[in-house]
Amino acid sequence: MTDKTAFPADFVWGAATAAYQIEGAADEDGRGESIWDRFCATPGKVRNDESGAVACDFYHRFPDDIRLMHELGLDAVRLSIAWPRIFPEGRGRVNQSGLDFYDRLIDELLAQGVQPFPTLYHWDLPQTLEDEGGWAARSTAEAFVAYAEVVAERLGDRVSHWATHNEPWVAAWLGYGSGEHAPGRASADDALAAAHHLLLSHGWAVEAIRRVAPDSNVGITLVLKPAYPASESEADRLAARTADGFFNRWFLDPVFRASYPADLLEYFAPSAPPVEEGDLETIAAPLDFLGVNYYSREVLRANPEGGLPLVVRDPEASYTAMDWEIYPNGLFDLLVRVRDDYDPPPIYITENGAAFSDHSTHDGEVIDPERQAYIEAHVDAIGRAIEAGVGMAGYFVWSLLDNFEWAHGYSKRFGIVYVDYPTLARVPKSSYRWYRDFIANQRNGGRGSAGR
Ligand code: FCB
Repeated sequence: MTDKTAFPADFVWGAATAAYQIEGAADEDGRGESIWDRFCATPGKVRNDESGAVACDFYHRFPDDIRLMHELGLDAVRLSIAWPRIFPEGRGRVNQSGLDFYDRLIDELLAQGVQPFPTLYHWDLPQTLEDEGGWAARSTAEAFVAYAEVVAERLGDRVSHWATHNEPWVAAWLGYGSGEHAPGRASADDALAAAHHLLLSHGWAVEAIRRVAPDSNVGITLVLKPAYPASESEADRLAARTADGFFNRWFLDPVFRASYPADLLEYFAPSAPPVEEGDLETIAAPLDFLGVNYYSREVLRANPEGGLPLVVRDPEASYTAMDWEIYPNGLFDLLVRVRDDYDPPPIYITENGAAFSDHSTHDGEVIDPERQAYIEAHVDAIGRAIEAGVGMAGYFVWSLLDNFEWAHGYSKRFGIVYVDYPTLARVPKSSYRWYRDFIANQRNGGRGSAGR
């Protein structure tokens, strides 16, 4: 175990959420349709054809939820802005009521001592933009910058940390490559174009946010998944290297080195990202922080038929309800490696957490020791990374509330607060109480034993 005093005094303890997963109020106050509204309305795309139309009803219940954040002792909360609330048609007309909502939300957070860390894009593209080509079209990147500018102009006087995008890998490859997520396209060419335009829009938005809100810290959140070879064989090492390129280097290299990895360009050929002159320099705009979402790792072996590397399952390992292997040391390895290879600005873990099948007991309690253990082990890995010299700035548990887990609908519970969907009642789980005590203990200088 790491020394609990490893965390610097200004380390940010947080929790993360995203607009479409919690807000609900899909048709209120002039919000436009997003690709997730359309995807959920398409039969067979989401488990039980569920949707985020109501979700946790955070749109109406945010004062109570912010009270829960305050009682938890959070320094910060990660939330996302819903683009279709601000620009119902994606570009052009601004919907003032949408901006007013986030204005009230941020004021309430600050009044309760919780810093907002907004993300501008957590996957809810206005449907009108999808109809014009979506992220596969360069014009969507242009529309994103106009949106970023309007939001930063309105909220930038109270927001210190902005993230442009959440997990461009997922938005591009699950949205446009496999079709498991909205908008549900299945084309590698579209996914490569989408990934490039997401990154390009990030670079442009960094400049726009800094221009209208000069005191801002600006970053991006990437989902990173360390890839380990199943054996020491040359073929398995190459398989792991390819998977690492696909998930990690494809995004880290352009952001920190202004280039796409050569081995992956070769792998994808003849498909290629639609790079124009100057794009890569734009994407590599210097950042104030890097957001990393970490959930699991992958172990790979070479495909004897020569196709995609094969994922190997460790029968000894434990898995979450998402069937993701619990592998905290992967976070340590990843952080050290990102530091060594990319010399990044301070890193926030912007998401980390686990789904388990939680139940409310007869006396209304929700006891979730597995989630607590998951969080503890990952926080410990971060402490070890700090001891190894990695510049870490904060940790956000995914998620504050049980919520709409995309194609899984409401079946996967990640919250440290249980949401009883029929009544929308909130029940803090035992992991919430543990995290509250842990944060309080950190403020005490890390002495004592964090509620154990
Ligand atoms: C991440 C997403 C987040 C949530 C978690 C479980 O990929 O950013 O919205 O779905 O996974």
